[in-house]
Amino acid sequence: MDENLSVVLVSNRGPISFREEGDHYGISRGAGGMAGALDPVARRLGDRATWIAAATSETDKEALEEGAADRLEEELGYSLHLLDLDHDVYSRYYDDSSNRMLWFAVHCLWDELGIKDFGEHELRAWTTGYEPVNARFAEAALSLAEPETLVLFQDYHLTMAPGFVRRARPQQTIFHFTHSSWCGPEGFERLPDPIPRNVVEGMLGADLIGFHVTPWVQGFLRSCESIGAEVDRASGSVLHEGRRSWVRAYPIPTDPTDLKERAQSEAVRNWAKGFRSGGEGPLVVRADRTEPSKNIVRGFQAFGRLLDKRDDLRGNARFIACLYASRHSMPEYRRYTENIEATVEKVNREHPDSVELFLEDNYDRAIGALLEYDALLVNPIMDGMNLVSKEGPAVNTRDGALVLSKGAGSFEELGDAAVTIEDSLDIESTAEALGRAIDMPSAERARRAGVLRDRAEGRTPAQWIETQIDDLVRVQSGDEPHTPACDL
Ligand code: G6P
Repeated sequence: MDENLSVVLVSNRGPISFREEGDHYGISRGAGGMAGALDPVARRLGDRATWIAAATSETDKEALEEGAADRLEEELGYSLHLLDLDHDVYSRYYDDSSNRMLWFAVHCLWDELGIKDFGEHELRAWTTGYEPVNARFAEAALSLAEPETLVLFQDYHLTMAPGFVRRARPQQTIFHFTHSSWCGPEGFERLPDPIPRNVVEGMLGADLIGFHVTPWVQGFLRSCESIGAEVDRASGSVLHEGRRSWVRAYPIPTDPTDLKERAQSEAVRNWAKGFRSGGEGPLVVRADRTEPSKNIVRGFQAFGRLLDKRDDLRGNARFIACLYASRHSMPEYRRYTENIEATVEKVNREHPDSVELFLEDNYDRAIGALLEYDALLVNPIMDGMNLVSKEGPAVNTRDGALVLSKGAGSFEELGDAAVTIEDSLDIESTAEALGRAIDMPSAERARRAGVLRDRAEGRTPAQWIETQIDDLVRVQSGDEPHTPACDL
């Protein structure tokens, strides 16, 4: 990377969070693929990188007040600016707007959750939560970026911020990356005006707009058309209000080096041994956040259905689910977790001890389960990428099969070597796919596992972000991005 390059990264959740440790504050590394992928690049850039994020918990805020953030630069190797946002405003931005409206919109989850439409309450959350917080992030970016600095906004929490920066400083080079799926304008139809237009126009404030895979690029381009922007599919660009934005797919890889190292640890190996010694039969595994888009309930129902139909698997096949609760400030998520527990109870009533459900975050345990699966179930309705479908094949020791639905972003890269779930909403079709994975002859399993492993290990997160930065530098100097347009 060019030695004059400077970068401002902007995301809702930052690379670390604070935790209380007696009379001082310790830090925990942020969970999730995004922070893990961006952090090494920020480190490499050192004092040429600045990361702006929200203080997402009360502990973060207290730590900020007590000056704990001043020591962060030394620890991280780059500077981190945490924004202290009013609790209620933050909740309207994060819970009501980002996670309820936008998350459900980009995954087209309305029917799944039985949400009909939105009204005044949501519109207020938008104008008094989402908009002002996006404006705060934009102001912070403007104050920390030089005119030639590349500003990289991350995800659906920050769709309006690029537009705010563009208006304030037209020459700034801006990137926006969406880590989730983007199902298209139909997902936004239930949101009140002017939200759908605000979102798309805000993102079009960026020079370059990234998604993980082609279907989400396609969905976004259709959203652009729905607000009257001019889309050129051949060049992968959108013309709106006299400006051109490029739209590209950058599929995020996993980091097999870190993962494999962790897989060697005693804690992981003990979990793996324990799981393996639990029985001789085939082992189905899943590892997820408790998230409606992950389609966890239907996964258990499908497993139950498989056992109903197959004498040879009853009392023999096991399902280990390593889940962790997420976004429990929202009723839809709390209800979803309850539904998961009730479904597992039902399957276990009908097929005793067939499902082992873990509901706390324990990374070592999840890796332990990934080492041992015979079939890894990844059946989201829609998912930006789904890193588990790459992490599993990278560490699994049994030539396990990957059972993958078409709604996973990773289907584009891994689908031909996976066992396909034709319709993730259909329990029979999911049960059938699980059966096919379990029955697959060992030579074929080994062949496919090899292909999956090679693909999972093909690229590194550092290469992923560097490609984006290279493209952005080209766009800054008036050229097209190096990465070709998606084949739409
Ligand atoms: C998932 C999504 C990301 C999102 C993240 C936020 O990983 O794929 O798009 O940024 O969740 O999760 P949070 O826990 O911060 O709500």
